[in-house]
This record gives sequence, structure tokens and C-alpha cells, in this order.
Amino acid sequence: MVSWSSLTLLGLTLLSKASAVILQNGQVRETNFPNTRIDPSGYSFKTYPANSTEISYKGRWDSKYVSWWSAPGIKFGYTGQTVAISFGNLTTDGVLVGYRIGGLDWTFTNITAGATHLLVSPEYPGAKLTAPINPWTFELRVSNWAYGIQINAVHVAAGEKLIKIPDFNRRIEVIGDSLASGMYTSYESMSSWAYGLGEGLGNTEYSVTAYPGICVADQDCWGNPRGQSHQWFYTSDTGGRAYQIHGENPEPWDFSKHPAADIVVINIGTNDHNTHNNVSTEDYIDALTKLVQGVHGKWPKAQVIVMSLWLGFYQSGNTYLPNAPQGWVNEIAQMVRWFNSDDYLRNPTVYDGVTKKTTKLKVKGKDKPFVHLFNTTGILQHNDIAPQWHPTDVGAIKVASHLQQFIRNTFGWEFYATGPEVYHETLYWNDESEY
Ligand SMILES: *[C@@H]1O[C@H](CO)[C@@H](O)[C@H](O)[C@H]1NC(C)=O
Ligand SMILES: *[C@@H]1O[C@H](CO)[C@@H](O)[C@H](O)[C@H]1NC(C)=O
Ligand SMILES: *[C@@H]1O[C@H](CO)[C@@H](O)[C@H](O)[C@H]1NC(C)=O
Ligand SMILES: *[C@@H]1O[C@H](CO)[C@@H](O)[C@H](O)[C@H]1NC(C)=O
Ligand SMILES: *[C@@H]1O[C@H](CO)[C@@H](O)[C@H](O)[C@H]1NC(C)=O
Repeated sequence: MVSWSSLTLLGLTLLSKASAVILQNGQVRETNFPNTRIDPSGYSFKTYPANSTEISYKGRWDSKYVSWWSAPGIKFGYTGQTVAISFGNLTTDGVLVGYRIGGLDWTFTNITAGATHLLVSPEYPGAKLTAPINPWTFELRVSNWAYGIQINAVHVAAGEKLIKIPDFNRRIEVIGDSLASGMYTSYESMSSWAYGLGEGLGNTEYSVTAYPGICVADQDCWGNPRGQSHQWFYTSDTGGRAYQIHGENPEPWDFSKHPAADIVVINIGTNDHNTHNNVSTEDYIDALTKLVQGVHGKWPKAQVIVMSLWLGFYQSGNTYLPNAPQGWVNEIAQMVRWFNSDDYLRNPTVYDGVTKKTTKLKVKGKDKPFVHLFNTTGILQHNDIAPQWHPTDVGAIKVASHLQQFIRNTFGWEFYATGPEVYHETLYWNDESEY
């Protein structure tokens, strides 16, 4: 979902510099982002280029090591107490990133395009702590969906080294629009329910292919030239930055070079549903069906969770009610039933968004059901939606928590994050016992 004022935002990203001012209920939030930029000539580093196998890239990155979509990141282990990164000039100047050691709190800092930033040094909180997470792991994520970073090199202190951290053995992909990408939450992508779902489950690799304003129908929606039934098959998103860097020829995502997701969560349609974009019910369901068939073609073993849509609330007399109609509730449920029917399972078809071909999936006998409906009704209340129609930080946490529990109940995934920070600056507490 996107509003008129964010249209300007989408359009301006081409020209503007990122600005890391966080507004909280209309007021500037106090932040203490450290200035981490350094002149690397004064340091003695051991340097690893961006293509080093020790560096794991999370989410979607292109062949130039430029990040795309929501909450992309990098992770590696290291020895010593120093980590610096040189960012390429395809970095959005001033972009806010979050980084941390192990499961400690995130630190946020502005990145300058083409500059080197010293992110961990002996003075950094936690730099000297050891077990239980050994070696030290370093993780960095981009906080905004439209902005990105380019990795040129990672540095550690002279005589120290990077260590490859093996991937966790379970994987989630979230496909969506602004609602999944964290638009209008405090730390944007890093406060979204999609990020929170991945981090909150713990020991889970996650990738969030979500972009504000995008439809699933392959057409222009709020300035995004393509829809997810096309763009999900590509490395870059539909923002101005992508067109600036890749023009009309984005890199198709090489599914063969990346492990399959085990669970794919799809939450898309509020932009299709907006009369501004003029997507018919038929076109919406057709595109959503293609997206599910696309996932099934690329990752035949993945379980797909399709979320029902929510469209905000209005005051009705002495209470609040959900906006009606709720957004193709019956049609989405019907599509899920079709995927679970003998009609589909006896003759499963898959779709490729690059070739635009629908083909038969080769299966022995009958395909196994893989599509689930996640009913969002009753999770959010009127004050979980911010004035610009997106979940608040609290709303995002509620959606993520319910999804986590749904995934545990449905697939038996245990919760492995039992302590690390997930949602930065959400420690609202009361230390007076009586008033
Ligand atoms: C981060 O960027 C914002 C906006 O460009 C700026 O106001 C702030 O001073 C920057 N902070 C640091 C530490 O550079
Ligand atoms: C990284 O790129 C350099 C320069 O193209 C190349 O020589 C090197 O073999 C690459 N390393 C890996 C691990 O791919
Ligand atoms: C960006 O960096 C590359 C590689 O270092 C260089 O070839 C190119 O000229 C730079 N572009 C700009 C606009 O500075
Ligand atoms: C919306 O789509 C219908 C059917 O394709 C078309 O007839 C109509 O002109 C469109 N309206 C707008 C405002 O684009
Ligand atoms: C979703 O949940 C609501 C509230 O429990 C229920 O009324 C509705 O029928 C459910 N929708 C579907 C498609 O199951």
C-alpha cells in the first residue's frame, strides 16, 4: 500500500540523498548514530574483496555486489576486534544501516558512498566479549528498501582473518509490498514484520523481496513499472535506483545458484486492490496464481503461505471496524483451495516470470499440497495502523509473532531466537509501580 505523499518519496529516490531523520508521532526521534567514516590510509588492514567466499550475502545482491529489496545484508565471522567495510560508489549516499556482533543490539550508522567505515573497533560495545557465539559474527543489514549499498571490500586488522559462517539450514522468503518492506516503521525494513519473522524464528536465513507500491499484477502501480508476478524473478526491485543502475535489463535472479526457501510467505494485493491502479479481480487472482506457480516451479518443495489482506480501519459510532470490502478475501481463499484440489495436484503447472511460460511440473503420481492460507483477521486493531495506512512498530511485531506461531504449529519449526535483539528500540518500560 502506498499513499500520495509516499509517491513523491518513490519518485525522488533517484535524485535525493538518504536522510536518517526518524520521525516518531511527527517528532524527531533522538538518535545517536555514531560517525563511522574513516580515512583508511591511517590503518593497517587485511583486506578481503567483495567476492570473498568468507562473506555471506543475505537477500538479493547483484553481480556488482549491490543490494536490493528489503533488509538485505552480509554476515561473516572474524578474528581480532576490528571490522571495516569499503562501500562502492553505487551505495546510496547517507543510507542508514544496522550492524551488530553476534546477537547483541543493533548499531545504526550513515554510510557514505565510496567511503570506508570502521564499524567494529576495540572500543565498540561487545568487541571484546567471547562465548557463547564463537567466532565473533558480524552482521549488517540495510534499513531502507529503496536505498542500497555496494560492498567493495571488508577489512580486519592486519594479521587477523575472516571466517565463513555456514548458513542456517532453514530458509524463509517473504514476497510483498510496502506492508512487508516496513514502510513507515521506525527502522523501516529492520522494523518490519517480514524481517521480524526471520530474525524472530532464529537460526533461519531470510530474504524479503518486497517493495512499496508494487502490485502482483504485472503493470505500473504507483510508479513501479512491473508487478511481482514478473519482478520476483529478478535480482533488483522496481525502484528508481534499479533503473538507474540496470536500466531496462535487470539481472534475472539465478535460482540455481541459491538454495531453495523452505517456506515462502506471500502478502500482496493492497496495491492491486486500490482503485487508483485499476486491477480487476480476475487479473489480480491470475497474477497471484502465477506467482504461486512461479515459486512452486523454482522451489518445488517449498511450502507457501498466502496471507489474507488487511486494509485499515475506520471509526463507526462507538467503535472501529475494518474497511470494507476487505480485499478479495473469498477470491484468495478460493485460489488456495484450487491449489489444494485434485484438479491442480493431479496436473500441477508452474510459471516462469522471465520466459512467461506456464509448463507442467513433473511429479510422480500426484503433487503434494503446499499452499496454506494465513488469516490475518483479528490480529491488528485500529491503533496498530499508522496514519499512512501501514502497521506501526507494534502492529509489525504482532503480525510477525502470529506468523511465527502459525509456522511453529503448522510445520513444527521451533523458535531458536531465545534472547538476541530483534526489534531495535522497542524497549518501552515503566519503572514506577504505583501512580
Ligand atoms: C546521518 O545522516 C543524517 C541525514 O543526512 C544527518 O542529519 C546526521 O547528522 C548523520 N549522522 C552522522 C553521525 O553522520
Ligand atoms: C574475485 O575476483 C577477482 C578479480 O576478478 C578474481 O581474481 C578472484 O578469483 C575472485 N575470487 C573469488 C573467490 O571468486
Ligand atoms: C565508481 O567506481 C568504479 C570502480 O571503482 C569506477 O570505475 C567508476 O568510475 C566510479 N564511478 C563514479 C561515478 O565515481
Ligand atoms: C480500467 O480498466 C478497464 C478495463 O481494462 C478500462 O476499460 C478502463 O478504462 C480503465 N480505467 C482507467 C482509469 O484506467
Ligand atoms: C478469517 O477469520 C475470521 C475471524 O475469525 C473469519 O470470520 C473468516 O471467515 C476467516 N476467513 C477465512 C477465509 O477463513
